[in-house]
Amino acid sequence: MKYLKMERDGEVVQITIDREDKLNAMSLDVMNEFITVLEELEKDSSKVIIITGEGKKAFSAGADIEYMSKIGPTDAEKYALRGHEVLNKIEKIGKPVIAAINGYALGGGCELALSCDIRFASANAQLGQPEVTLGICPGWGGTQRLLRIVGPARAKDLIFSGRRIGAEEAVSMGLVNKVFPPETLISETRSYAREVAKNSNFAVGISKMLVNKGMDASLETGLKLEIYSWALCFSTKEREERMASFLKRK
Ligand code: HXC
Repeated sequence: MKYLKMERDGEVVQITIDREDKLNAMSLDVMNEFITVLEELEKDSSKVIIITGEGKKAFSAGADIEYMSKIGPTDAEKYALRGHEVLNKIEKIGKPVIAAINGYALGGGCELALSCDIRFASANAQLGQPEVTLGICPGWGGTQRLLRIVGPARAKDLIFSGRRIGAEEAVSMGLVNKVFPPETLISETRSYAREVAKNSNFAVGISKMLVNKGMDASLETGLKLEIYSWALCFSTKEREERMASFLKRK
């Protein structure tokens, strides 16, 4: 791995985009490395994943503008598809993924954060979808995931204006879950991740799937899916053990 660092802390894994000199802009190489890492994490015993960016300035300043300045529609399509593959993997992986937004999360950087389940940000973070300032529309799911997270009016405001918003405004629109001082962002994120990791990974993973599927399904379909998923939890040994241990707690 040249552009991604992976650190394991028990059942919590942290992926750091390591291209600080370019504000962690995500070239095709970065996206290819993400595929490799996520394929490994799909299979291993880790329970929670954290994604962040190297340095104090950026989570990621987005797709690589130098590369995009030289390509035509065919390569642009490939770049878009590769990004979608990565972000869909993050959305579908059966364990929570937390974005620790340690600075700029712009364009593709914001889209990467949008594909995560939880977004924590440092007080100096700035988020935005500035693609229209470059003559392009968002291309890694921004129009669709932002819409679903903040609603159409706010999504259109951010996309049409290309403006950057601070962490507090991002919280006020439900784009970010919580803000921390820059110096404690990672420790707070890790401590939250460790708390989540104490829970049943089967139950957490199935809950993630249910919430995600529910966003695009009718209430009736979502509720049906919940009933059968809930019943499926009763097939696990872990459920038996956790309930028995509750009953024996005194
Ligand atoms: C490539 C980038 C980059 C990017 C920054 N850099 N963003 N390189 N792609 N997205 C590089 C700069 O060229 C510079 O390299 C170094 O990182 C530091 O950046 P500066 O601009 O000098 O830093 P600063 O003045 O502090 O400004 C920070 C910034 C600005 C506000 C974040 O860099 C910026 O506006 N970046 C572009 C953000 C953006 O528009 N993102 C959306 C991209 S489109 P050198 O070598 O000169 O030091 C996108 C589409 C997604 O993401 C969909 C794809 C299919």
